[in-house]
Amino acid sequence: MIIRQLFDSGSSTYTYLLGCEATRQAIVVDPVLEMIERDLAELISLNLRLTCTVETHVHADHVTAAWQLRERTGCRVAYPAMEQVACADLQLAVDQPLMAGSVLLLPLPTPGHTAGHHCYLLEHPVPMVFTGDTLLIDGCGRTDLDGGDAETLFRSVHDRLFALPEETLVYPGHDYNQRRVSTIAQERARNQRLKDGVSADQFVQIMAGLDLPPPAKMATAVPANRGCGRCPRSAAARADA
Ligand SMILES: [Fe+2]
Repeated sequence: MIIRQLFDSGSSTYTYLLGCEATRQAIVVDPVLEMIERDLAELISLNLRLTCTVETHVHADHVTAAWQLRERTGCRVAYPAMEQVACADLQLAVDQPLMAGSVLLLPLPTPGHTAGHHCYLLEHPVPMVFTGDTLLIDGCGRTDLDGGDAETLFRSVHDRLFALPEETLVYPGHDYNQRRVSTIAQERARNQRLKDGVSADQFVQIMAGLDLPPPAKMATAVPANRGCGRCPRSAAARADA
């Protein structure tokens, strides 16, 4: 299997490129609109054909490249069905894995950051999970935006993610300190918000006390992402600002 972790410094977003060595089919997780040329060049250099993009959730901090990648490569666009994005070609749910050759992504519903957020589990050969904004390295996504709920995120992390084998590699949707990968064991031991011993009530209090400003691009990113990343050029320009 071919795996690349790609970083957008503008939004501190990780995009993941997953390719099958036998069929040369590839999936891209959480592509960023401004990084589309990088992603297309990476696919060409690896001799991979993009068959699908997949989102962990409807992002508020950047616009997905899904629509543009579909226009330029003919790939399909997948979203979690729970996010209710009608323009998606594939509506993912827990019993509907996403495949590209030998790449098999298992959707894990993990609401809390948004109402329909999903993580994706890849069981090859060491299990790895792409956690979007549900679980970051020593952190988690905010829970105060539309559809967010702190207690729900706590339950998603503890019931879904911390139930995975402790050696499972955790690949987050963002990092702001140049960290790339963690493990379930490390997050259970070190995550200041969510580690073992922190109660749901304590977590809710921590999240209520963050008092974060709204994401700079939220007004353009959320409607664009509800349209699979399709946005007028003027909106894309505003998202760049
Ligand atoms: Fe997010």
